[in-house]
Amino acid sequence: MTSAPYVATLKDSTAVFKEDIFKGKILFCTGGGSGICKGMTEAMMRHGADAVIVGRKLDRLTQTANELSATTGRICIAAQADVRQPRMLKEAVEKTIAQFGKIDFVICGAAGNFLAPISGLSENAFKTVMEIDTLGTYNTIKATIAHVRRSKGSYIHVSATLHYKATPYQAHVSSAKAAVDALSAVLAVEEGPHGVRSNVIAPGPIGSTEGMQRLSSIAEGGVSRLPLGRVGDIQDVANATVFLFSEAASYITGQTVVVDGAMEHMRDFQ
Ligand code: HXC
Repeated sequence: MTSAPYVATLKDSTAVFKEDIFKGKILFCTGGGSGICKGMTEAMMRHGADAVIVGRKLDRLTQTANELSATTGRICIAAQADVRQPRMLKEAVEKTIAQFGKIDFVICGAAGNFLAPISGLSENAFKTVMEIDTLGTYNTIKATIAHVRRSKGSYIHVSATLHYKATPYQAHVSSAKAAVDALSAVLAVEEGPHGVRSNVIAPGPIGSTEGMQRLSSIAEGGVSRLPLGRVGDIQDVANATVFLFSEAASYITGQTVVVDGAMEHMRDFQ
C-alpha cells in the first residue's frame, strides 16, 4: 500500500506567535495595495501593528486599507506615491508621521514585471523595472531611514529567486532584484550600529498572485512533484515577515530568507 503524498500544512502566524507582539508599532509598506505585500501587511496588523500602504493607484489602495482595517481591527491608511518619485515618497512619509508619529518597520515591496527576452526589451522597458524595483527601494530607504533609526526598527525587502540562476525573459527583474539584495546587505552593515536591521524575503512562485499568473509555468499536476506538495501561499511569506520583524529575529540581519519550499534547488530537475 502506498501512502498519500505529503502536502505541507498552511498555518496562520497567529497560530504560532502572540497576537499583540507588534502592538504600538507602525508599518510603512510600498506595494501594499495588493498581492504579497497586502498579505504581509495584514499579518503584521493581525499582530497589533497599524500600517500605511503605499502605491500608485489610490482607489485600489483605499479599498485595501479599508478592508485591512475592517478585518484586523487596526488602522490602515493609504498614501499614494510612485516609488520612482522621491518627492511623492517624502509626502507619504510625512503623512505617516502626521498620523502615527513614527515608523518602526518598512517593507520595500513595490515591483514591476513582465516576460520579455533581452532582444525584445527596449531600453525604456529595462529602465522602467530597474527604476521601480531598485531605485524605488533606494528611494524608500532614503525617505524612511531617519525615522527607522529613531525607532531602532527594521526593513524587509521583497526580492525573488530568479537571479540565483539564469531565468530566461527575466533579465530586467533579475538585474533589479540582485541589486535589491545588495542594497539590503549594505544597509544591514551600515545601519546595524544604529540598531536597524535589514533582511530580504525571496518568495518563489506564490499561488494567486499577479506575478504567478503572469510568469509561472508550473503545470497542473506538476505540483505533486514539489518537495512540500504544494506551491507557496501569500500566508507563507506573511509568516516569514512576522518572524523577521519580531524580536525573535533580533540577531538576524543582512540575510535572505527564501520562501519557496526548496523549489529553487529543484530547478535543474524540472
Ligand atoms: C516588453 C514591455 C512589456 C512587455 C511593458 N513594456 N510591458 N516590453 N514586453 N510585456 C515596456 C513598454 O513598452 C515601455 O517601453 C516600458 O516597458 C514601460 O512601460 P509602461 O507601461 O510605460 O510603464 P509603467 O506604466 O510604469 O508600467 C510598469 C510595468 C507594469 C512594469 C511595465 O507592468 C507594471 O507596473 N506592473 C506592476 C504590477 C506587476 O507587474 N506586478 C507583478 C510583480 S511580480 P517603451 O520602449 O515602449 O517605451 C514580481 C516578482 C516576480 O516582481 C517573481 C515571480 C516568480
